[in-house]
Amino acid sequence: MQVCVNNQQLAEAVSMWRAQGKTIAFVPTMGGLHAGHLSLTHQAKKNADKVVVSIFVNPTQFGENEDFDNYPNTLEQDLIQLKACQVDAVFTPDKGQVYPDGFESHLKAGSLSQGLCSDSRPGHFDGVVQVVHRLFEIIKPDVAIFGQKDYQQLLVIRQMVREMSLPIEILSGDIVREDSGLAMSTRNQYLSTEEQEIATKIYQVLTQLKQVVLSSEALAPAIAHSKAVLSQDFKIEYLSVLDANTLKSITDNTAQIAILCAVFLGSTRLIDNIVFDKG
Ligand code: PAF
Repeated sequence: MQVCVNNQQLAEAVSMWRAQGKTIAFVPTMGGLHAGHLSLTHQAKKNADKVVVSIFVNPTQFGENEDFDNYPNTLEQDLIQLKACQVDAVFTPDKGQVYPDGFESHLKAGSLSQGLCSDSRPGHFDGVVQVVHRLFEIIKPDVAIFGQKDYQQLLVIRQMVREMSLPIEILSGDIVREDSGLAMSTRNQYLSTEEQEIATKIYQVLTQLKQVVLSSEALAPAIAHSKAVLSQDFKIEYLSVLDANTLKSITDNTAQIAILCAVFLGSTRLIDNIVFDKG
C-alpha cells in the first residue's frame, strides 16, 4: 500500500494504473476510521481494480464552533487497518496540497443541501462539495463511495456530479451499526460508555417510527411522539420523514422514504437515518 502525501505522488500512481488499463475507486474520509469506513473500502474493491482512500480533515466544512481542532486523529491505526483491507493507495495531503490557492471557492452545493443539516451548519455542504470536487480533480476516479449515514451529503454529491456531468459513478455504502444498533461514527469516540448506551435509543426510535409510517397511521402525531421520546435524553436538531430522493415532503410520487435525524447528546452531535420503500 502506497502512502502519498502530495498530489504528485498520487498522480504518478494513478497514471501508472491508467496506463495498465486499471479502473479506480475512491473512498474519501477524514480519518478516525471504523468498520463503516472499512466496509466502503471492501465495496470499492468489488467495483474497481484499484482503491484509493483519502484521509483529510477538511477545514472548509467545519463551522467556527465545531470540532475541527479536536477531530479524532488516529492515522497510525487507520493505515494499519487500510493495509489489512488491501487498499492500494492512501492519500494524506495537507491543506496546501488540497487548497494551493487558498480556501476561496466558487463552488456551491445544490438545492438538496438546503434544510436538515444546513439549518445548523450553514456552509457545511459548500465545504463538502469544494473538497470532494478537488479530490476528484486530483484522483480522477471512475467510481467513488460514500456512506449512507451522511445521507444528505450523499444526495448533495450525487447532485453535484449530475449537474457538472462528471464522469464518476457515485455508490452508497450501507450504514454499519454496533450490535446495539448505534450507527458507527468517528464522533462516537466522544461518547462515554454510558452515553453510548443512551445513544442506542436513536435507532430504536427511528425503527419504531418506520413501523408507524409503513402502517399508514397519521404522521404528525407519530413524529411528535418520537420527538418527545428522544427529547428525554437528547437535544433534537431535526427529526424528519421525507421523500428520500427530493428531501421534500412525501407525495403520491414518493417511492422511497427517509427518516433522518440529528441530535446532540451532551456536546456530541449524532446523525442517523433509515431509508426504505414506501410499500
Ligand atoms: O463524510 C466525510 O467524512 C467527509 O464529509 C468527506 C466526504 C470525506 C469530505 O471531507
